[in-house]
Amino acid sequence: MEVFVEDENYFGVDLGNTSIRLVELKQIHDKPTLVTYGDIELPNGLMASDAPVDQQKVAMVLKKLVDDARVSTKNVVAGLPGSKVFASIVKMPQMTEQEIAHSIQYQADKYIPMPLDQVKLDFTKITQDKDAAEIDVLLVATPTVVANKYLNIFQLAGLELMALDVNAIAQARAMVPDGDIDVLLIDFSSLTTDIAIVARGVTGLIRSVNVGVRSLVHVTAQNLGLDEAQADQFVRKFGLTQTKLEGQVYRAMKPLLDNIVDEAKKSIEFFYQVNPGRKIEKVVITGGPAAIPEMPVYLANSIGLAIEVGNPWQKISYAAEFNDRLAGMALGYSTVVGLALRNMV
Ligand SMILES: Nc1ncnc2c1ncn2[C@@H]1O[C@H](COP(=O)(O)OP(=O)(O)OP(=O)(O)O)[C@@H](O)[C@H]1O
Ligand SMILES: [Mg+2]
Repeated sequence: MEVFVEDENYFGVDLGNTSIRLVELKQIHDKPTLVTYGDIELPNGLMASDAPVDQQKVAMVLKKLVDDARVSTKNVVAGLPGSKVFASIVKMPQMTEQEIAHSIQYQADKYIPMPLDQVKLDFTKITQDKDAAEIDVLLVATPTVVANKYLNIFQLAGLELMALDVNAIAQARAMVPDGDIDVLLIDFSSLTTDIAIVARGVTGLIRSVNVGVRSLVHVTAQNLGLDEAQADQFVRKFGLTQTKLEGQVYRAMKPLLDNIVDEAKKSIEFFYQVNPGRKIEKVVITGGPAAIPEMPVYLANSIGLAIEVGNPWQKISYAAEFNDRLAGMALGYSTVVGLALRNMV
């Protein structure tokens, strides 16, 4: 476990589409302990915009959140959704970090579907065994325009961006137990749903599906002849319960949800092809829309694996008085807790 010197403190920030969240942790007696947390709503469409004036607005909302939460440092670890990164696991002969940094420049174009002068490359050596002939390296590419936008927002808020992580990797850090298990991770959000496989602690096969709660609400509104606000209420209240409203909400959402299920199944099949004999133990679901009624049972039946609603507080120490409050915020906080855990677990 890494030990931090005082000035290397940092906190996690999740810049979502509908809200910004932060969590600061401190390692106390070898246990990540909650120092502070907070969230604030973001006006619709602000985060999706690339206009400088909107980045300035996001920065001001972020600054207010940071001031109110009284974090102890200006250093931030943020994360990017699956729709904004290309992540691949690359096999290489045994080599040092320096050699990887050099070699990966020449290999990256095989894995990254964008011109390399338009992306920022980052890698993590996964195989720690120094005697292994072949090693796994996680290669992550972020479009330069996206990375610059994040850098700009944090700078405008008076903060220092130390690392840009990947949301799925952060979530796995928070919610997947250590050890030799393989799990599928599904993160539902407003515009997209991200799917990843966490294989013995290594998060890969990150895919993003263009279905989010916004499109689920929209299709419900259309099919039932409701406005979006009413449809949103119906989705939250009835969800996938087939006995409510004669299953109308369920039937409206099912075709879109099945896009997610199909992608999940493709990832699982691919994983089994590459790793014969292994077994995905369960699906961990997270993100606000994971709370849609009957979502877990729907996914269990259609994917054919056990579903667990993720708890990002499982590795964190906090005062007992926070129990109920934190449990109620589990789905929304999975990314940011994982970002705050970077280098701690
Ligand atoms: N119980 C629920 N049922 C349906 N939708 C929900 C529920 N709880 C939250 N949502 C919606 O899910 C979306 C994503 O929630 P989340 O908390 O992940 O927000 P975010 O991180 O700000 O946004 P995003 O993940 O889309 O970037 C929001 O649009 C939110 O309104
Ligand atoms: Mg989110």
